[in-house]
Amino acid sequence: MTEQQKKSWKPGKRDLVFLGVIAAVVLVLVLGTTDRKTIAVPSDDTHRSVTAKAACMACHDSAGVHPQPATHTKMDRCFLCHTQPEGWAGAPK
Ligand code: HEC
Ligand code: HEC
Repeated sequence: MTEQQKKSWKPGKRDLVFLGVIAAVVLVLVLGTTDRKTIAVPSDDTHRSVTAKAACMACHDSAGVHPQPATHTKMDRCFLCHTQPEGWAGAPK
């Protein structure tokens, strides 16, 4: 063994900066994987019993009693983004 290899490794300033950057990246990735949900669907009798998009839209299209915002997505699966009501009649996710 040479003299160089026998020396024990001590982290220098640049190593610490590097480790700090890795820790920050890991933290961001871990925090980023938590469920992202928007406004919950109310847990009332109406929302528990409706299982078809057409029924939702009867109340939530632009002519309904509680319209979606004009910029709202046209996607079908409401519960991808809105939390299901407690005891929803449809299939569990
Ligand atoms: C009979 C009419 C009706 C039907 C059907 C209906 N909703 Fe609603 N919905 C309402 C009304 C009225 C409100 C607002 C009052 C309230 O909080 O109950 C509301 C509120 C909401 C909200 C929350 C909005 C807010 O301001 O907090 C979401 C999300 C929602 N509905 C999604 C759905 C989805 C998804 C379906 C289909 C599974 C659905 N609704 C079916 C009438 C309806
Ligand atoms: C891609 C995600 C996504 C999907 C899928 C989705 N929504 Fe939304 N919705 C949102 C977001 C985000 C908001 C918050 C308001 C906005 O658009 O800025 C919202 C708002 C609403 C509101 C208005 C709440 C309020 O008080 O202003 C209603 C009602 C609603 N959604 C109903 C539905 C229904 C019904 C479906 C299924 C046909 C559905 N959403 C599918 C993301 C989604």
